[in-house]
Amino acid sequence: MILITGATGNFGSKVIKHLLKKGVPASEIAVMVRSMENTGSLEKLGVDLRIGNYDDVDAMVKAFAGIEQLLLVSSSDRGAIENRTKHHINAITAARQANVRHITYTSFIRKEGHEKSAIAGFQNSHLVTENFLKDSGLTFTILQNGIYQEMIFAFAGEKVAETHSIFFPAKQGRAGWVLREELAEAAATVLTTEGHTNKTYILTNTAAIGFGQIAEYISERLNEEVEYTTPEVTTFGDVLKNSGVPPMYIDMMTMWGTAIAEGTMDLEDNTLELLLGRKPKKVQEFIGEIYG
Ligand SMILES: NC(=O)c1ccc[n+]([C@@H]2O[C@H](COP(=O)([O-])OP(=O)(O)OC[C@H]3O[C@@H](n4cnc5c(N)ncnc54)[C@H](OP(=O)(O)O)[C@@H]3O)[C@@H](O)[C@H]2O)c1
Repeated sequence: MILITGATGNFGSKVIKHLLKKGVPASEIAVMVRSMENTGSLEKLGVDLRIGNYDDVDAMVKAFAGIEQLLLVSSSDRGAIENRTKHHINAITAARQANVRHITYTSFIRKEGHEKSAIAGFQNSHLVTENFLKDSGLTFTILQNGIYQEMIFAFAGEKVAETHSIFFPAKQGRAGWVLREELAEAAATVLTTEGHTNKTYILTNTAAIGFGQIAEYISERLNEEVEYTTPEVTTFGDVLKNSGVPPMYIDMMTMWGTAIAEGTMDLEDNTLELLLGRKPKKVQEFIGEIYG
């Protein structure tokens, strides 16, 4: 039996959909949820709902009873980054106690020099988790997921078609943006096919692109000029602050913009293409659909 954590989230729910599409019976799928509230859509699928929380090892040991394979979806805790690391370590510890055989973990991409990147905290949390998992005695598959294409509009803003501008401090940095849906499909493939034991996969698009190119794609689609302005981070912070944006949000945007400018997500790889059996969706196509 396979158990999916983060089943109420965007990624976990898509993995369940793909497992069912691949023919895994609902009776062979268990999911971990924090509470039974708002789980109607999961209940309708007929999967086995189990209560657990990354904060609570004992609850997870119970939730993982009889599970052979676990998909550990990384924590989304918004507090100190150490909370996420602790959550992952708790889940792996519980899996070991519950005699789970194999863990597939959704990590994040990193490249040489990541220790100095603006998102070093996130990347290091994943690295610590990966090392703990490798030392756990369980077999593993590590999915180093690239940055979601969906994040493009979290950074560029939802109203680009109205403002005709993207204002973001990513400079000329590029990233191998991938569709969350396709990462979920790849995870479902890994969970249902052989040959992934003790492997680490870098899952990015085959071509990395930056916001200059993204602005061009949107311009082409709208048939109207969209300008990409990439300010210094201090100017960026001042402009957002003067527009009433909360400091936490400004810090988050600045951190990811700087990380893109540094090129820490500038990776191109064809492993995702191999797992999907087709080319991953290009950013240009994604933008075409958004403005279609
Ligand atoms: N590659 C990228 O670009 C990217 C972008 C964003 C995030 N991520 C990472 O990828 C993960 C999956 O992405 P997503 O889009 O599915 O995120 P999401 O929609 O925010 O889902 C996160 C899931 O984790 C669950 N969760 C959070 N804290 C938990 C806890 N203490 N115990 C048990 N479950 C807990 C949530 O449950 P509730 O419904 O109960 O809250 C939810 O099901 C994220 O958690 C994050 O680590 C990656």
